[in-house]
Amino acid sequence: VESDGFEVTVDNLERHLTKRTTGLILNYPNNPTGATLSADKVAEVAEFARSRDLLVYSDETYVDLTYEGRPASIADYEGMQEHVVVLRTFSKTFAMTGWRVGYLAASEDIVRTATVLREHTSTCTNSVSQHAAIAALESGAAAAKKMLDQYRSRRQVVIDEFSDFEYAKLFRPRGTFYGFVNIEACGKPSTDVALLLLRRHAGAVAPGSAFGEAGEGYIRICFACPISEIREGISRIRSGLEELAAEG
Ligand SMILES: Cc1ncc(COP(=O)(O)O)c(C=O)c1O
Repeated sequence: VESDGFEVTVDNLERHLTKRTTGLILNYPNNPTGATLSADKVAEVAEFARSRDLLVYSDETYVDLTYEGRPASIADYEGMQEHVVVLRTFSKTFAMTGWRVGYLAASEDIVRTATVLREHTSTCTNSVSQHAAIAALESGAAAAKKMLDQYRSRRQVVIDEFSDFEYAKLFRPRGTFYGFVNIEACGKPSTDVALLLLRRHAGAVAPGSAFGEAGEGYIRICFACPISEIREGISRIRSGLEELAAEG
C-alpha cells in the first residue's frame, strides 16, 4: 500500500501465508508502482523466508533502472542461496522487450529442474535473440548507461509535470519507467478513467485494477518514450481528469 511506500511488510506476508504456501514472489524495483525495497526490508523478508523455509522468486527485471540507491538483491543475504530464484531479463536493461531472453540463478537442483521444464516447453531461446544478447553483453553497457541517464531525465519531467496536478498525485518512482498515479480524487474506477483517457484524449494508461485489487484508485503511466511525447501524454491526462472533475 502507498502508506508503506509500496514496500512489502513481513506482517502482510504473514497474513497471507497458508499451509500450502511454498514460496513468494518479490518484485523490486516494482511494476507498476516504481517502488524499491529498502535494505532493511529486504533483510526482514530474507529472515522471514528462511525461517519458514519458503522459496523467494526475486523478479529483478528492473534492477538496472534504479534512480535512488541501488536495491540489494535478496540473494546476497546470508544463508539465502538455497532460498532464492533470481529472475532477470534483457528486456528492459537493453530495450529488448519481445526478444524473449532472460535468465535465472538458483541452487543446482532448481536449475536442473527448470532446464528440463524449459527443454520440453520451448526447447531454447531462438538463435537470433541469443546473438543479440551476446552483443548486448559484449558491447551494450555504454548504451544501457546512456538510456539510464535518459530515463532519469524523463522521470524528472514526469515528477515536475505532476507536481501541480489537482486531481492526481504521482507516487515518486525510485526505479522502473513507470509512474503510479493516485486518482482517488476522481471518484471513478480506474478502468473508467483509463477508457475515457483513451477514447476522448487518445492517451494510453494502464488501469491500476489490472494489477490486482490494491491497484484500484491508480493509473499507471509509462515514460519509456521521448520527453516531448511524455509532456504531450501528461497534458492529455490532465485534460481528461479535469473533464472528469467538471462532470462530477
Ligand atoms: C515485473 C516484470 N517481470 C517480468 C517482465 C517480463 O520480462 P520478459 O520480457 O523477460 O518476459 C516484465 C515486463 O513487463 C515485468 O514488468
